[in-house]
Amino acid sequence: MVAMERVELAPVYQISRVIRGGWQLAGGHGEVTPGRAVADLVSAFLAGITTFDCADIYTGVEDLYGALRVQLAKFAGASALERLKIHTKFVPDLELLPRIRKADVEAIIDRSLKRLGMARLDLVQFHWWDLAIPGAVQTALWLQELQQAGKIDRIGVTNFSTEGVRAFLDAGVPLTSAQVQYSLLDRRPARHLAELGVSLLCYGSLAGGFLSDRWLGMPEPDHPLPNRSLVKYKLIIDDVGGWAALQHLLAGLSAIAQRKDTGIAQIASRFVLDQPQVAAVIVGATTGAHLRANVSLSNDQLDQSDRSQIAALLAQLRPLSGDVYDLERDRTGRHGSIMKYNLSTAQ
Ligand SMILES: NC(=O)c1ccc[n+]([C@@H]2O[C@H](COP(=O)([O-])OP(=O)(O)OC[C@H]3O[C@@H](n4cnc5c(N)ncnc54)[C@H](OP(=O)(O)O)[C@@H]3O)[C@@H](O)[C@H]2O)c1
Repeated sequence: MVAMERVELAPVYQISRVIRGGWQLAGGHGEVTPGRAVADLVSAFLAGITTFDCADIYTGVEDLYGALRVQLAKFAGASALERLKIHTKFVPDLELLPRIRKADVEAIIDRSLKRLGMARLDLVQFHWWDLAIPGAVQTALWLQELQQAGKIDRIGVTNFSTEGVRAFLDAGVPLTSAQVQYSLLDRRPARHLAELGVSLLCYGSLAGGFLSDRWLGMPEPDHPLPNRSLVKYKLIIDDVGGWAALQHLLAGLSAIAQRKDTGIAQIASRFVLDQPQVAAVIVGATTGAHLRANVSLSNDQLDQSDRSQIAALLAQLRPLSGDVYDLERDRTGRHGSIMKYNLSTAQ
C-alpha cells in the first residue's frame, strides 16, 4: 500500500491529503458510541490520516477529538501529537452576528480549547451565516488578535464566496485555507475562488456517500433519507440533473473504477484532489469501514483517458448556479432552509 499523501498547508504545517470529517459523529448520522468512535479515530491516525475536521457546533465532536489526543499521548507518544492536526470551526450563531463582540469570539475559542484539551488551536475555520449583516471582517480581525495572543495557530474560512474571501485578504487577515464544497457534482470553487491562490480543503467529495458503489443502480430514495448529509447532497443531485443524471455518472465512473480495480468513491475523491489549489479532501465516516480505501487513494491515479471520460460525463450535468455557497446562503431556499443556524449557544 502506498503511504498517505501529505502536503505543507503552510510553513511547518503539514496535513494528510485525506482529512477525516467529524460531522458524521455529531448525531444526525446514527448513534455514536464514544469509545468506539475514539478507537476508529485512533485507527485513522495510525493509518496515516493525521488531520481531523470538526466544528464548535458539531455536538460532542470536539470532546471526542480531545479524547483522541489523550489516547495518542498515552499510546503513541508526544511525537504523534505533533503530527496530529485538528481543524475546528468558529460558527457564531446567526442571532449573535448583529451584536457580536471580541469577548464573544474569545469565549467560543476558549470553549474549543477546553474541549480539545489544547493550549493553542491548530486551525480555526471561520463561518458567517449572513453576508448582509456587517462585521465579518472585524470578527476575523479579532480572531487574528487571538492568534497573536497565542490561542490560534492558523486561521481559515469556510463557505465564503470569492468576494467574501477577497475581503479578508484585502483586510490583511492571514488566511491559510478555505473550506468549501467541491465534488464531481459541485465545481463552483473552480470558477473563481481557486484563482485567489488560497488552499482549498474540500468537503462533499463523495456527496455524503451518493458518489460510491453503494448507490449504483439503486432506485431514487424516498424521504426521510437516512442522515443529514444525504439530505444535503440529494438537493445538489436534484439541481445538477436528478437521479437519472446521477446514475449515468455513477455508471461511467464505475467503468473507470473497474479498470483500476478500485471503487467509485476513490475516483470521486481523486478527481477533487487533482484540481488546482486543492490541498485535501475532508471525507466523513460513521465507522472505520472505509478507512483502507481512503488511505490508499494515492494508488488511484487518473490518466489522460480517465480524465477525458470524466470530462465527457460532467459535460452532461447542469452546473450549479452562482459562486461558492450562494445557493446555501439563501435561508429561504431549498438548501438554506434545511440548516440549523443557532447551534453554538445550544452546545
Ligand atoms: N463546512 C461545512 O459547511 C461542511 C459541510 C459538510 C461537511 N463538512 C465536513 O466535511 C466532512 C465530510 O462530510 P460530507 O457530509 O461532505 O460527506 P462525504 O465525505 O461526502 O461522505 C461521507 C460518507 O461517505 C461514505 N464513505 C466514506 N468513504 C467511503 C468510501 N471510500 N467508499 C464508499 N463510501 C464512503 C460514508 O458513509 P458511511 O459512513 O455511512 O459508510 C460517509 O459517511 C464532514 O464530516 C465535515 O467535517 C463541512
